[in-house]
Amino acid sequence: MTKRLRSKHLLGLEDLTPAEIELVLDTARPFRDLFTRSVRKVPTLRGRSVVLLFYENSTRTRTSFDLAAKRLSADTVNIAVATSSVQKGESLLDTAFTMEAMKADFIVIRHAHSGAPHLLARSVNASIINAGDGFHEHPTQGLLDLYTIRERKGDLKNLKVVIVGDILHSRVARSNLWGLTKLGASVILCGPPTLIPTDIASICPRRIDVVHNLDEAIRNADVVNILRVQFERQLEHLFPSIREYSLLYGMNRERLARAKDDVLILHPGPMNRGIEITSDVADSVNSVINEQVTNGIAVRMAVLYLLSLNQDPVPAEET
Ligand code: CP
Repeated sequence: MTKRLRSKHLLGLEDLTPAEIELVLDTARPFRDLFTRSVRKVPTLRGRSVVLLFYENSTRTRTSFDLAAKRLSADTVNIAVATSSVQKGESLLDTAFTMEAMKADFIVIRHAHSGAPHLLARSVNASIINAGDGFHEHPTQGLLDLYTIRERKGDLKNLKVVIVGDILHSRVARSNLWGLTKLGASVILCGPPTLIPTDIASICPRRIDVVHNLDEAIRNADVVNILRVQFERQLEHLFPSIREYSLLYGMNRERLARAKDDVLILHPGPMNRGIEITSDVADSVNSVINEQVTNGIAVRMAVLYLLSLNQDPVPAEET
């Protein structure tokens, strides 16, 4: 069995082998068990520092990495880009070099440009973790989705997973596509034709089906992962109206009633309640949306721990 990742960076699930993905999920399990104990902290990363460098807004991912690092006893630093020297024109690389000069061991970066984490990985000594880059990947979201499905269903193999919404602009969809297909799930993409790439192979050359009718897509589905309508990216012109989007692609009580009794409902958050998902579905017994958030901390602890095994050891006097 694989015991280590091959890299000290996590840039995307495209880069991981199925065995490496399984390793992260297996490593997250004992960290998840820790959450039910009275002391939820372990000394694993004592002496290491984690910089959270978010150029785009975040609630879940930033807080989750912060908590994950603290539960491993690492020091964390949040760079608030809106009040940092980025506003004076400092470049991404100069900001990263500054973090390196301060001996950051990990830089967790979210950036609007695809490939920004890859640039840092080539330029600085710290481990780089992609917390979402443009439309490219959001690997820890993909991993926490896989973990949540595996915990509930036992195995990903041969599960029918539907991903609904804006596939074209979704980094969550891309990481899910790589992770799900590598672990043997069968994936169906569903959404308006304008929001699904005409050439799926250009984003993931694995076997993926496309169905534009949501009622047809969710028939016999084991999992439905609902993507957020990304209003901040001003993509509304790609579908006729929000009302029509909700009617055709919104997950509501009537659709849930026609799905399998034990279908799992996932959403990466933040949700637009009443648009891509109704509240009665989001809060239903089929929904694992809150579990995704909790599991995300354990998965990010596993990622930080496994990447640390590929870093230079911390000198004894620093611990
Ligand atoms: N799922 C996700 O990435 O949420 P945030 O944007 O709140 O981090």
